[in-house]
Amino acid sequence: MKALPTAKPTAAALTIAIDGPAAAGKGTLAKRLAVHYALPYLDTGLLYRAVGRRAAEAGIDLDDPQAAGAVARALEPSALDDGSLRGREAGELASRIAVHPPVRAALVAFQRGFAARPEGAVLDGRDIGTVICPHAQVKFFVTASPEVRARRRTDELAAKGRDVDYETILAEVRERDRRDAGRAEAPLKAAPDAHLLDTSEMDIETAFRAACDLVDRVLAERGGA
Ligand code: CDP
Repeated sequence: MKALPTAKPTAAALTIAIDGPAAAGKGTLAKRLAVHYALPYLDTGLLYRAVGRRAAEAGIDLDDPQAAGAVARALEPSALDDGSLRGREAGELASRIAVHPPVRAALVAFQRGFAARPEGAVLDGRDIGTVICPHAQVKFFVTASPEVRARRRTDELAAKGRDVDYETILAEVRERDRRDAGRAEAPLKAAPDAHLLDTSEMDIETAFRAACDLVDRVLAERGGA
């Protein structure tokens, strides 16, 4: 996947990196922060989802790092516009191809290019604060217990009219955690300077306010508030 053409970030550019496990609420938080601070937003999970989907459609062996890497290199940004990528199957495919170093390498330049936009950016994923944007001004690691995350995902899918069962979703959440945290390349982990947001007992509004307090403090320290 090609890097976006970018200018050098200005001193005022604010980059917010958000990582965390499946269904922890990072996407919702990232979107709200992006709107609040008028920053462009990249859901990096969509890149892996699009690669997983393309690889599956092409009949490629998902466990073959080189073949999956070639799919990632050929990916065009327009592939991210497919609304069905947010579904469960694409998430499963994504977490399988995301373990391969050639896939991750092919997607780095695009993500770093997005993060380096002159106006700043919000990115969410698994390795944003650790690998993609180690110099982001603000980093969050959003988490919640597997049970809470499975409950949220079940409710979210049920609201979309899907027939889902909590135990199945919980098993999927645990399997995805195992794969994401256990892989050798860019495993899911909090950057040492990330702010931990455990949303197990927090609704999105509370998490959003806590995150804004922190971003505002960083902006005030830079004299940009
Ligand atoms: O929304 P949800 O947390 O379920 O998934 P996602 O963020 O769309 O990510 C889907 C899968 O892509 C994850 O389980 C990871 O395996 C992979 N991924 C990754 O490895 N690195 C990223 N920066 C983003 C996603």
